[in-house]
Amino acid sequence: MSVEVTEVSSVEEILGVRAAVLRPGQAVVAARNPQDGEAGAIHVCAVVEGRIVGCGSLYPAKYREMEAQRIRGMAVLEGFRSQGVGSLILEALKERAIFRGVGRLVWLNARVRAIPFYERAGFVGVGEIFSIEGIGPHRLMIFRW
Ligand SMILES: CC(C)(COP(=O)(O)OP(=O)(O)OC[C@H]1O[C@@H](n2cnc3c(N)ncnc32)[C@H](O)[C@@H]1OP(=O)(O)O)[C@@H](O)C(=O)NCCC(=O)NCCS
Repeated sequence: MSVEVTEVSSVEEILGVRAAVLRPGQAVVAARNPQDGEAGAIHVCAVVEGRIVGCGSLYPAKYREMEAQRIRGMAVLEGFRSQGVGSLILEALKERAIFRGVGRLVWLNARVRAIPFYERAGFVGVGEIFSIEGIGPHRLMIFRW
Protein backbone atom coordinates (compact mmCIF):
# COMPACT_ATOMS: atom_id res chain seq x y z
CA MET A 1 0.00 0.00 0.00
CA SER A 2 1.43 3.35 -1.00
CA VAL A 3 0.70 6.12 1.50
CA GLU A 4 1.43 9.80 1.13
CA VAL A 5 1.26 12.11 4.15
CA THR A 6 0.83 15.78 3.37
CA GLU A 7 -0.26 18.98 5.05
CA VAL A 8 -3.69 20.32 4.09
CA SER A 9 -4.43 24.03 3.91
CA SER A 10 -7.83 23.80 5.59
CA VAL A 11 -9.33 21.59 8.26
CA GLU A 12 -12.38 21.12 6.03
CA GLU A 13 -10.39 18.60 3.97
CA ILE A 14 -9.93 16.22 6.91
CA LEU A 15 -13.07 16.85 8.92
CA GLY A 16 -15.01 14.02 7.28
CA VAL A 17 -12.43 11.38 8.22
CA ARG A 18 -11.93 12.82 11.70
CA ALA A 19 -15.68 12.80 12.34
CA ALA A 20 -16.24 9.31 10.94
CA VAL A 21 -13.54 7.81 13.16
CA LEU A 22 -13.71 9.87 16.34
CA ARG A 23 -17.35 11.00 16.48
CA PRO A 24 -19.28 8.26 14.69
CA GLY A 25 -23.00 8.84 14.58
CA GLN A 26 -22.64 12.54 15.37
CA ALA A 27 -22.82 15.55 13.12
CA VAL A 28 -19.53 16.39 11.40
CA VAL A 29 -19.52 19.71 13.24
CA ALA A 30 -19.05 17.80 16.52
CA ALA A 31 -15.56 16.86 15.33
CA ARG A 32 -14.37 20.47 15.13
CA ASN A 33 -11.80 21.60 17.68
CA PRO A 34 -11.89 25.20 18.89
CA GLN A 35 -8.37 25.87 17.62
CA ASP A 36 -8.88 24.37 14.16
CA GLY A 37 -9.06 27.65 12.29
CA GLU A 38 -6.51 29.56 14.35
CA ALA A 39 -3.07 30.60 13.18
CA GLY A 40 -0.62 27.88 14.12
CA ALA A 41 -2.99 24.97 13.59
CA ILE A 42 -1.41 22.34 11.33
CA HIS A 43 -3.45 19.55 9.77
CA VAL A 44 -2.01 16.56 7.95
CA CYS A 45 -3.70 13.81 6.01
CA ALA A 46 -2.71 10.38 4.74
CA VAL A 47 -3.70 9.65 1.17
CA VAL A 48 -4.04 6.20 -0.40
CA GLU A 49 -4.94 6.05 -4.08
CA GLY A 50 -6.24 9.59 -4.03
CA ARG A 51 -8.45 9.09 -0.99
CA ILE A 52 -7.91 10.62 2.45
CA VAL A 53 -7.82 7.67 4.86
CA GLY A 54 -6.29 9.28 7.93
CA CYS A 55 -5.54 12.59 9.61
CA GLY A 56 -4.08 14.37 12.60
CA SER A 57 -3.67 17.92 13.86
CA LEU A 58 -1.14 19.96 15.81
CA TYR A 59 -1.78 23.16 17.78
CA PRO A 60 0.22 25.50 19.99
CA ALA A 61 -1.08 24.70 23.49
CA LYS A 62 0.40 25.32 26.91
CA TYR A 63 1.49 22.42 29.08
CA ARG A 64 1.54 23.36 32.78
CA GLU A 65 2.02 27.07 31.96
CA MET A 66 4.89 26.27 29.55
CA GLU A 67 4.91 26.90 25.82
CA ALA A 68 4.15 23.58 24.16
CA GLN A 69 2.18 21.94 21.37
CA ARG A 70 -0.71 19.51 21.35
CA ILE A 71 -1.73 16.73 18.98
CA ARG A 72 -5.44 16.05 18.51
CA GLY A 73 -7.73 14.25 16.14
CA MET A 74 -5.54 11.28 15.23
CA ALA A 75 -7.73 9.07 13.08
CA VAL A 76 -7.33 6.32 10.50
CA LEU A 77 -10.30 4.76 8.72
CA GLU A 78 -11.12 1.19 9.64
CA GLY A 79 -9.71 -1.09 6.98
CA PHE A 80 -6.53 1.01 6.77
CA ARG A 81 -5.44 0.53 10.39
CA SER A 82 -2.50 -1.49 11.70
CA GLN A 83 -0.54 -0.91 8.50
CA GLY A 84 1.58 1.99 9.68
CA VAL A 85 -0.61 4.84 8.43
CA GLY A 86 -1.19 6.27 11.92
CA SER A 87 2.54 6.13 12.68
CA LEU A 88 3.33 8.07 9.50
CA ILE A 89 0.82 10.77 10.50
CA LEU A 90 2.22 10.93 14.02
CA GLU A 91 5.80 11.22 12.73
CA ALA A 92 4.77 14.01 10.34
CA LEU A 93 3.22 15.93 13.24
CA LYS A 94 6.22 15.36 15.52
CA GLU A 95 8.55 16.56 12.75
CA ARG A 96 6.54 19.75 12.32
CA ALA A 97 6.38 20.31 16.08
CA ILE A 98 10.15 19.97 16.40
CA PHE A 99 10.75 22.13 13.35
CA ARG A 100 8.76 25.09 14.57
CA GLY A 101 9.89 24.58 18.15
CA VAL A 102 7.10 26.13 20.19
CA GLY A 103 8.46 24.74 23.43
CA ARG A 104 10.20 21.39 23.41
CA LEU A 105 7.24 19.25 24.32
CA VAL A 106 4.16 17.80 22.61
CA TRP A 107 1.24 16.52 24.66
CA LEU A 108 -1.96 14.69 23.91
CA ASN A 109 -4.83 12.91 25.62
CA ALA A 110 -4.62 9.32 24.43
CA ARG A 111 -7.54 6.95 24.39
CA VAL A 112 -6.43 4.08 26.61
CA ARG A 113 -6.60 1.67 23.70
CA ALA A 114 -4.17 3.82 21.72
CA ILE A 115 -1.55 4.14 24.49
CA PRO A 116 0.82 1.46 23.06
CA PHE A 117 0.64 3.21 19.67
CA TYR A 118 1.91 6.48 21.19
CA GLU A 119 4.46 4.71 23.40
CA ARG A 120 6.04 3.21 20.29
CA ALA A 121 6.49 6.77 19.00
CA GLY A 122 8.30 7.85 22.17
CA PHE A 123 5.42 9.33 24.18
CA VAL A 124 5.26 8.61 27.90
CA GLY A 125 2.19 8.58 30.11
CA VAL A 126 1.78 11.16 32.86
CA GLY A 127 -0.56 10.82 35.86
CA GLU A 128 -3.68 8.78 36.27
CA ILE A 129 -6.18 7.57 33.72
CA PHE A 130 -9.18 9.93 33.54
CA SER A 131 -12.50 9.85 31.80
CA ILE A 132 -13.66 12.20 29.04
CA GLU A 133 -17.44 12.25 29.04
CA GLY A 134 -18.99 10.46 26.12
CA ILE A 135 -15.64 9.20 24.81
CA GLY A 136 -14.09 7.08 27.55
CA PRO A 137 -10.86 6.61 29.52
CA HIS A 138 -7.77 8.60 28.52
CA ARG A 139 -4.23 9.24 29.68
CA LEU A 140 -2.16 12.35 29.28
CA MET A 141 1.00 11.56 27.29
CA ILE A 142 4.01 13.70 26.46
CA PHE A 143 6.91 13.64 24.03
CA ARG A 144 10.00 15.79 24.74
CA TRP A 145 13.08 16.58 22.71
C1 LIG B 1 -4.95 5.04 16.76
C2 LIG B 1 -4.88 5.07 15.23
C3 LIG B 1 -4.84 6.52 14.74
C4 LIG B 1 -3.61 4.36 14.81
O1 LIG B 1 -3.55 4.29 13.39
P1 LIG B 1 -2.98 3.01 12.66
O2 LIG B 1 -2.85 3.31 11.22
O3 LIG B 1 -3.78 1.80 13.05
O4 LIG B 1 -1.55 2.94 13.34
P2 LIG B 1 -0.30 2.01 13.04
O5 LIG B 1 -0.63 1.00 11.99
O6 LIG B 1 0.87 2.88 12.83
O7 LIG B 1 -0.15 1.31 14.45
C5 LIG B 1 -1.07 0.31 14.81
C6 LIG B 1 -1.37 0.38 16.29
O8 LIG B 1 -2.36 1.33 16.59
C7 LIG B 1 -3.17 0.85 17.65
N1 LIG B 1 -4.53 0.64 17.17
C8 LIG B 1 -4.98 -0.12 16.15
N2 LIG B 1 -6.31 -0.05 16.07
C9 LIG B 1 -6.72 0.79 17.03
C10 LIG B 1 -7.97 1.28 17.43
N3 LIG B 1 -9.11 0.90 16.85
N4 LIG B 1 -8.01 2.18 18.43
C11 LIG B 1 -6.89 2.57 19.05
N5 LIG B 1 -5.65 2.11 18.72
C12 LIG B 1 -5.58 1.23 17.72
C13 LIG B 1 -2.59 -0.47 18.09
O9 LIG B 1 -1.62 -0.23 19.09
C14 LIG B 1 -1.92 -0.91 16.81
O10 LIG B 1 -0.92 -1.82 17.02
P3 LIG B 1 -1.11 -3.31 16.42
O11 LIG B 1 -1.35 -3.16 14.95
O12 LIG B 1 0.17 -3.98 16.77
O13 LIG B 1 -2.30 -3.84 17.13
C15 LIG B 1 -6.07 4.33 14.57
O14 LIG B 1 -6.06 3.00 14.99
C16 LIG B 1 -7.43 4.92 14.89
O15 LIG B 1 -7.89 5.82 14.19
N6 LIG B 1 -8.11 4.40 15.92
C17 LIG B 1 -9.44 4.83 16.28
C18 LIG B 1 -9.46 6.25 16.79
C19 LIG B 1 -8.48 6.50 17.91
O16 LIG B 1 -8.42 5.77 18.89
N7 LIG B 1 -7.69 7.60 17.75
C20 LIG B 1 -6.72 8.00 18.72
C21 LIG B 1 -7.33 8.90 19.71
S1 LIG B 1 -6.16 9.27 20.99
